[in-house]
Amino acid sequence: MSKLLITGRQRLSGEVCVQGAKNSALPVLAATLLTKGENVIFNCPSLSDVDASCEILRYLGCEATRSDQTLLIRCDGVARTDIPDSLMRKTRSSIVFLGAVLARTGRARLSFPGGCEIGPRPIDMHLKALRALGADIREQHGVLDCRAPYGLRGAKISLSFPSVGATEDIMIAAALASGTTTISNAAREPEICDLADYLNKCGARIDGAGEGVIYIEGVSSLHGAAHSIIPDRIVAATLMSCAAVTGSELTLRGAVSRHLGAVIPVFEESGCRVTVSEQGIRISAPRRLRSMRLVRTMPYPGFPTDAQAPLTAAACTADGTTVFIENIFENRYRHIAELTRMGASIRTEGKVAVVEGVPALYGASVEATDLRGAAALVTAALCAEGTSAVSGVRYLERGYENFDIVLRSLGADIRKV
Ligand code: EPZ
Repeated sequence: MSKLLITGRQRLSGEVCVQGAKNSALPVLAATLLTKGENVIFNCPSLSDVDASCEILRYLGCEATRSDQTLLIRCDGVARTDIPDSLMRKTRSSIVFLGAVLARTGRARLSFPGGCEIGPRPIDMHLKALRALGADIREQHGVLDCRAPYGLRGAKISLSFPSVGATEDIMIAAALASGTTTISNAAREPEICDLADYLNKCGARIDGAGEGVIYIEGVSSLHGAAHSIIPDRIVAATLMSCAAVTGSELTLRGAVSRHLGAVIPVFEESGCRVTVSEQGIRISAPRRLRSMRLVRTMPYPGFPTDAQAPLTAAACTADGTTVFIENIFENRYRHIAELTRMGASIRTEGKVAVVEGVPALYGASVEATDLRGAAALVTAALCAEGTSAVSGVRYLERGYENFDIVLRSLGADIRKV
């Protein structure tokens, strides 16, 4: 089990090119299953979650090969309709393959995706929507057996919550359905728009992505396409947190400021100067942050839940108290206990975390238990006095490409052992 050894209080400087978005690459890879012909996916980050999706595609009979940041995917012959538990459990987001396998083959058998470290992760909205599209879904012994022998048909779907995964699953399933599907109260995340862009390049007819209602006109077949994945806004927010806690000035090349509309003001509230240009985002942090006052996570365009953990780390040494309210997931404060071991003063009560700024954090041995919690511990270790040992690096590698190398290139004293 590898660890990251980080000696804090090193100023960072320079510029970094922001990786492609994990949460766009994963649904796009699932959607390639609908196509016949070659897909060239550019700017695809090298992550264990992406590798897991490629493994599923190969298992189903597709070709998936990587050269640097480009994936070549060809799904001309889909030979299987099941995804084994061993592959399903590698990444929670594999549920988005449900709609893809069902739409392409008329059948899909896969195990219930496990909950994960941040909450039970139910899929009721996925199942209700697929049934509305005409799927017959049986749930037994933890396995979903879905059939649509006569194909899926368009339907009017209204989501009780703007679920990202359910919106993606429905878009993918409806792309080859007969007739029109509308999704009301759809998720509006940039990754939803990126998926729609990719599918439309393949010949789909999707309108309204990024707004509240999405219209999908089913087509009979989809061809392959070339597509470049959008930059990862959560990695950008995490790098901004790393700059903020070390009083640094960084340029994030490729970061899209409009994807960070609810994040940039929080850094400005804490005393950072953020300038936006065509090339990306430049952040310049004060020696000590002011409190961010109140951060409440919401569906996009609100403050993203995935950025909550790195920002709680940044709030630990700010001057003043910051209140976080986590409205999206039930169990997303698991990094707090580890931050407390580093000297943070944080109290949590249900959805609320109250972070009282302390003058300094101290290096400690800490354990990551989820992806964004791992990012929070690395952020905290960068500003702590002394050396920290962060274990659970495998969680970090699910979503951050070569993060230790990136931080070292910016001047951090970090190495993987
Ligand atoms: C996606 O997860 C992201 N993952 C998450 O990023 C992100 O935190 C989340 O969206 C919210 O933005 C990927 O895109 C691969 P949801 P997803 O469906 O689709 C409940 C990361 O760190 N819900 O919008 O699972 C659910 O339990 C990951 O990169 C139901 O109740 O998120 C949660 O409380 C973590 N029933 C809320 O909705 C359902 O059928 C939001 O979930 C589906 C979801």
